[in-house]
Amino acid sequence: MLSLFCFALLFTGQAVVAHQSPKTDHEIEVQRALQAAAYHCAPSVESFTASRKRAWAQRVLAGVPGLPGHQELFSADTYSDLEDKSHEKSDHDDTLMSCTPISDTHIQNNTCVLAPEVTEGPYYHTEGHVIRQNIAELQDGLLLLLDIGVIDVETCQPLPNVLVDIWQANATGYYAGHPVPHPHLADVGPATEGRRRGLLPAYPRTIHEETWLRGAWPTDKNGVVQFTSIYPGYYTGRATHIHTKVFPEWSVIPENNTFKAGRLAHTGQWFFDEDMNMVIDKMYPYVTNPIKESRGRTRNSQDSLNIFQDSHGPEGKYNPIFKVHLLGGVLSQGLVAYITMGVNASASYDNFWKG
Ligand SMILES: *[C@@H]1O[C@H](CO)[C@@H](O)[C@H](O)[C@H]1NC(C)=O
Ligand SMILES: *[C@@H]1O[C@H](CO)[C@@H](O)[C@H](O)[C@H]1NC(C)=O
Ligand SMILES: *[C@@H]1O[C@H](CO)[C@@H](O)[C@H](O)[C@H]1NC(C)=O
Ligand SMILES: *[C@@H]1O[C@H](CO)[C@@H](O)[C@H](O)[C@H]1NC(C)=O
Repeated sequence: MLSLFCFALLFTGQAVVAHQSPKTDHEIEVQRALQAAAYHCAPSVESFTASRKRAWAQRVLAGVPGLPGHQELFSADTYSDLEDKSHEKSDHDDTLMSCTPISDTHIQNNTCVLAPEVTEGPYYHTEGHVIRQNIAELQDGLLLLLDIGVIDVETCQPLPNVLVDIWQANATGYYAGHPVPHPHLADVGPATEGRRRGLLPAYPRTIHEETWLRGAWPTDKNGVVQFTSIYPGYYTGRATHIHTKVFPEWSVIPENNTFKAGRLAHTGQWFFDEDMNMVIDKMYPYVTNPIKESRGRTRNSQDSLNIFQDSHGPEGKYNPIFKVHLLGGVLSQGLVAYITMGVNASASYDNFWKG
């Protein structure tokens, strides 16, 4: 099982940084411990997510489902429900985010905890993404609001002021800056065997100024960060997904509002239900995906490099699939997607996990 974490994203003709992974027994044990660390937070995560859903529902009922990127959404009372609950419960010596030890729980039953570390892949731009909540720019696609909660697995408390960095493909499966394959690899098909089975060589970065569908924003005092984006499209060999990294330490680069990353606490990927992917697959502009006829969309269960499986953790106890709700009366009005990440705020992957 542990060997699953030893991805190597090196391939022919690519100037891509090798993905490093835990190697020594010590590193592997640290990795395992980190992955198991969030189990005891399951009940907290469940109520955390429920509170955020209620907060959204109240706003929608009030006619103000404002899009993240508009600061009024982050006024003090956005999560009043969440705060009220925690006061309420602390009276009973049982806070909202209490740490309940549970020895054998199947977190995926009722929560969306995501703590496992999986590869960042070849499309991360280490020089920093723009600090913003609306990452859509002019990309066409189905409105997707992300509601991401971050808890500290050491305390099971929401983690404020950690930078959540995300990046994803556009509706037809391309990353900003990577529009075409290497000319000499343009005719190469997906690998038919080996670790990279199903994958094409990564597209090189040829457009340095593109920033769409990349961005980072710190969690608020309730450990929540929201983004405005579009539902991602699919590309060869990969299940539909969104990438994330979490940085407890970072510094702003004021010239262009990007950031310089410090310590890395988490690297992960989020997924969507197959049923949802199937429906959106058929919508415009997703239906214009250039590989629709040739290779089609990769199902979660067929994800290359075992990433979807690995995202469930070493013992399969995490659920990396967003809980998704319609924003309006019909699908084309968009979706809000919830996920909660358990991260170890004092951990650092700089030694062996940073790609
Ligand atoms: C939760 O998981 C346990 C153990 O796998 C299972 O027995 C139970 O039926 C599940 N409950 C729900 C509601 O899925
Ligand atoms: C996605 O990005 C690629 C590369 O820039 C572009 O050719 C394509 O039109 C984009 N897809 C959509 C739906 O805009
Ligand atoms: C922002 O500025 C930094 C420092 O000059 C540079 O390294 C980085 O590439 C820039 N990022 C973007 C997206 O322009
Ligand atoms: C979090 O990380 C620190 C530093 O690596 C470690 O000492 C601690 O045991 C970790 N906590 C959990 C709950 O795994």
